[in-house]
Amino acid sequence: MVRPVPETLLDLIRPEVRSQRPYTVPGARKVPVKLNQNESPFDLPPALKRELLEAFFQISFNRYPSEQPAKLLTALESHCSVPEGSILVGNGSNELTYTLGMCFIHPGDVVVLPCPMFALYESMIHLHGGQAVSITCRSDFQFDVGAMLDAIETNRPNLVILTTPNNPTGLAMPFSDVEKIVRAAPGFVVVDEAYHEFNTEASALSLLDDCPNLIVMRTLSKAFGLAGLRLGFMVARPEIISEMMKSRLPFMVDRMSEQVALLLLRNQELVKDRVQIILNNTRTLKEALSSIDGVEVRPTNTNFVLFRTSADPATLLNELADKGVLVRNMGGYPELVGFLRVTSGTEDENKAFLEALNSIVGK
Ligand SMILES: Cc1ncc(COP(=O)(O)O)c(C=O)c1O
Repeated sequence: MVRPVPETLLDLIRPEVRSQRPYTVPGARKVPVKLNQNESPFDLPPALKRELLEAFFQISFNRYPSEQPAKLLTALESHCSVPEGSILVGNGSNELTYTLGMCFIHPGDVVVLPCPMFALYESMIHLHGGQAVSITCRSDFQFDVGAMLDAIETNRPNLVILTTPNNPTGLAMPFSDVEKIVRAAPGFVVVDEAYHEFNTEASALSLLDDCPNLIVMRTLSKAFGLAGLRLGFMVARPEIISEMMKSRLPFMVDRMSEQVALLLLRNQELVKDRVQIILNNTRTLKEALSSIDGVEVRPTNTNFVLFRTSADPATLLNELADKGVLVRNMGGYPELVGFLRVTSGTEDENKAFLEALNSIVGK
């Protein structure tokens, strides 16, 4: 017989951990048209995959990768035009959010961030014993920059976190406002630019020389289409990166991911072309959605669109999934109750989504 795990044993687990919920993608089902995680609809072209086969045979799987892969760091430094030592790579940018917690959050510390915002940050703050001061966006989902500046002034936090463009709202903060926040903050400001390639606003990276408190997060999961390989990175001043290196786990980027990332960084034209296609598809998708009676669509600076109808979102999500299309219900965010989020896919995928939606709400 298997002995049950006693509650007294579970009680030894930190309350900050026990009070959390594990990260899961709600409503996920296996369907042909997957538009629920803001992924790129484009896998690597077969010719590039074939090139990787050569690398695959040359990689020694029995050997550890280096703690920080030198070739990849050099390629990313050149991609971001930053000096040597300015980059830390991780197993997706998600992994690096925990490095932020390890470095900057003492128990009880306040962290200022907008709300709604990519949920992982708030859970990371709680796991590290911090306290999130969440600044609710305006009713049009634009950032409330004035309220963020006030919260920074009042709380003098070690850490401020921004995501621009923001997931889940899809909206970007104007560069001039990002600059105001970075300059006003007495501590570090993390600017998560996961959707940067889809955004017309300038990157915060240009502030790095003058603002040593800035940390920019990027990922290869979205525009680069590598969500399945897990590669993200942080850009900051070398003195800060070398401190952060002390709190991070070694070997988080495996040898294969390094090769794939290097290949894409050598083929940036492909990435740019695909970003252009995704932007065009997103524009068409948004227009088509707006033309459906009873559908409200929000502006976007990303590869996804927030929309709502008069239908119950959970029911609508299930009906769409029954028709082979998966989107995301945003009702987990109190400000977004009623909204669904659809990632812009290929032309055919977007068409399949629109047909499915039309057949349900156009009835
Ligand atoms: C704002 C934001 N940051 C980070 C990530 C995750 O990036 P990664 O796949 O590099 O962990 C996402 C994924 O949806 C995101 O929306």
